[in-house]
Amino acid sequence: MAEVVITQSGSVLEVLFNRPEKKNALTRAMYAAVVDAFHRADADAAIRVVLLSGAGDTFTSGNDIRDFQSRSVTNEASHASPFLDALSSLATPLVAAVNGAAIGVGTTMLAHADLVIAAHSARFVMPFTSLGLVPEAASSLLFPRLVGHQRASALLLLGEPMDAETAHEWGFVNQVVADAELMTTARAVAARLAALPPEAVRLTKDLIKNGRGDVPGRIAQELVLFGQRLRSPEAAEAFQAFVEKRKPDFSRFS
Ligand code: COA
Repeated sequence: MAEVVITQSGSVLEVLFNRPEKKNALTRAMYAAVVDAFHRADADAAIRVVLLSGAGDTFTSGNDIRDFQSRSVTNEASHASPFLDALSSLATPLVAAVNGAAIGVGTTMLAHADLVIAAHSARFVMPFTSLGLVPEAASSLLFPRLVGHQRASALLLLGEPMDAETAHEWGFVNQVVADAELMTTARAVAARLAALPPEAVRLTKDLIKNGRGDVPGRIAQELVLFGQRLRSPEAAEAFQAFVEKRKPDFSRFS
């Protein structure tokens, strides 16, 4: 079974992260598959909505940490960069259905979704600093605006988790539903959007997103720092600790 499953259901393109044994951690190939799906949606007038979800008990545990380790050795450009470009410029409305953990880019990508439906089990975490990294996907710009400066600092500086109810209270998700009802609810929302006049929907999405500041500029700025941080000794210690299933030790860093 593919690690990203793309299914067209009427005028909705469903994109499923499907690597449940690794908590849907995103590899380079998975990012590429999602980028293709986004491009396909924007190129095909018959597709009116994209619906994003994760298989198993997790939305996605974010970027694959072993991929982070290999990138820090090879000095490669970010795998996530084309994904972030495609996500932030997607013209087709994007609905996300989130259950379980949404970690790192698993949370930051949701700031680019138009509607987010969360299951009670959803838990949003952006542990960038504890991995020796900095935020990405323009989250350093979008989160202070979305939830306020101090809350964004707790989420992004401390890496504090946000549960589904808190995310709803803070306006990060539209609705919280029972886990068993997540996909039915998200599909109903996607169907409502898909039934509306498509050009009016796309124009409205564009207008709403217009007021969010220089998102592409911030994505690029963050990625420069992110690439440097991937090669830092702090990040190397964090990644190795994850692989060795131990607590990282940052005491030697100044
Ligand atoms: N990258 C690579 N592998 C990952 C991963 C990731 N982001 N997230 C989970 N996995 C792997 C684990 O290494 C484990 O593999 P193994 O069975 O070969 O040992 C498997 O997925 C299951 O994960 P596990 O940690 O045992 O499950 P859990 O239910 O105890 O915890 C998470 C789930 C998502 C909370 C936890 O795996 C986690 O915190 N992952 C890292 C998230 C992260 O820091 N992402 C980067 C953000 S920038």
